[in-house]
Formats: sequence, structure tokens, C-alpha cells
Amino acid sequence: MDVVQAMHQRKSIRGFLPTPVPKEVIVEVLEAAVRAPSSENIQPWKFYVLGGKVLETLKDKVMEQIESGKAPEPEFPTYMTMNLPQKYRSRMVELGKALFGLAGIERHDMEGRRLWYSKMMRFFEAPNAVVITVDEEISTFSSIFSVGCVTMAIALAALPFGLGTCIQHAGVLYPDVIREVAKVPKTEKIVMSVAIGYPDPAFKANRLVSPRVPLEEVATFLGVSEEVPYPGGALSSCSRPSVDNNTTNGVF
Ligand SMILES: Cc1cc2nc3c(=O)[nH]c(=O)nc-3n(C[C@H](O)[C@H](O)[C@H](O)COP(=O)(O)O)c2cc1C
Repeated sequence: MDVVQAMHQRKSIRGFLPTPVPKEVIVEVLEAAVRAPSSENIQPWKFYVLGGKVLETLKDKVMEQIESGKAPEPEFPTYMTMNLPQKYRSRMVELGKALFGLAGIERHDMEGRRLWYSKMMRFFEAPNAVVITVDEEISTFSSIFSVGCVTMAIALAALPFGLGTCIQHAGVLYPDVIREVAKVPKTEKIVMSVAIGYPDPAFKANRLVSPRVPLEEVATFLGVSEEVPYPGGALSSCSRPSVDNNTTNGVF
């Protein structure tokens, strides 16, 4: 699989088989991921790789927080806490409709939505999860941006091992619980989480290939000539995999 293919094939996975990921595989994934660039090569990230009883305890304690009515307290602001402009809101709504549609959750099915939310807060029951933190002293824009790079790298590096991932803000909405269970020192800020495991081929919402706005809407080309030929021959040789919404798509 070349890099371009991998980028087209990666998608968020929200239904996993219970099979734990061997530690050596997670190590391989992280070894590759930390080749990600970071501002000034600071490598601001720390990873807490969770599984087994530790992950179960974390999930149960998070559920206790939710059930007690405690509001989420992420250490960095999320879209959840802001009034999204309509243009962006509609993309979020479109995603929700597509996911719930595939999962068979009807618009007014409040119990179905509650169960989905609970599952999301439980890392979609992935056998493993990675929590990514940065040192509080350097928790600046550069560090958070660099964590974004390494997080995407994890998602891509996981693919050749047959693994699926879901980058998840939801996993870090109750940082105090993570701090306690994963023994994260107070000097680190909890940024992001990634659910990781083998995709469940029977879970229909895994089939979603989420849409993207046309490139013309987000990319502006200035002084870029269409006359310059691509030296590598026919561009179609870096083939995009065909996208098939009815299967779990390519890798899985
Ligand atoms: C920073 C970030 C936070 C995310 N948080 C969540 C989350 O909490 N729950 C979830 O189901 N998906 C989450 N996602 C996954 C996005 O919904 C997903 O990437 C997006 O819909 C595009 O779909 P794709 O990953 O399948 O291409 C997150 C992704 C990113 C990059």
C-alpha cells in the first residue's frame, strides 16, 4: 500500500473485535508514528497505551462521571463547547446522520443515541486506546499541532497491521479520571485519544466513507501552472483505491 492509497483508505473505525492488539504491534505502530515531524523536533508527545483491566477501569469510571451528571472538562477547548458557524455545523450534522443511518439509529431514537454516546465514551469498546499528552510547560500551539501530526501518523501506521483507529476527543473529556487511572502526572496536559483495534466487519457504521468538500472550496492555487508536466509519468499510477460504501472498504 503506498502512502496516497493509505490516506484514501484510512477512515474512522467505531466497531472493534475484542481481540487485543499485541504489544509488539503497538510498539511498531508508535515507532513509525514518532517519525512524524514536530516543531523544532521537540517531540512534545507522551503516549499512554491502555488495555485490559486498566482500560476497563477507565471506561467504568468515566461512565460513573457521566451518570452522576458531571459535565465534561477537557483540558483544551473542543467544538462541543462552542457555537459552530452553520457551514461547519452542517458538516457535523451530515456525519451524524450518515453514522446513525448505518447504525440503524432513527432520528427520534433517544435511547439509541444515548447508547451510541456511551459506546463512544468507552472508546467504542476498542481493546486498546492511546492517550496522548504534552508537558504543561510546552503546551503551546506548536506542541498541539505536532500532536496532530503524530496522531495522524498513528492512524496511518496502524493500517498495514490490519488495525483500525478512531481519533477521539470523546476519550479525553474527563481528564481527571485518565490522570488517576493511567497515572498521568499533573505536569502533563491530556490532549487526545486514539481507539485502536481490529475492525469488526459486521459493524455497519464502519462502512462509512465520510464525505469531503470539493478541493476547489478549500484550496487556492496561485501561480501554479497546469502546463508543467508530471515527471513520474501518468498520474493515475499513484492509484486512488475505489471507494465502496457498501463494504468495509479495502484494507478491512
Ligand atoms: C481531533 C479529532 C477529534 C475527534 N473526535 C471524535 C470523537 O470524539 N468521536 C468520534 O466518533 N469521532 C471523532 N473523530 C473522528 C472524526 O469524526 C472523523 O475523523 C471525521 O468524521 C472524518 O471521518 P474519517 O476519519 O472516517 O475520514 C475525531 C477526529 C479528530 C481529528
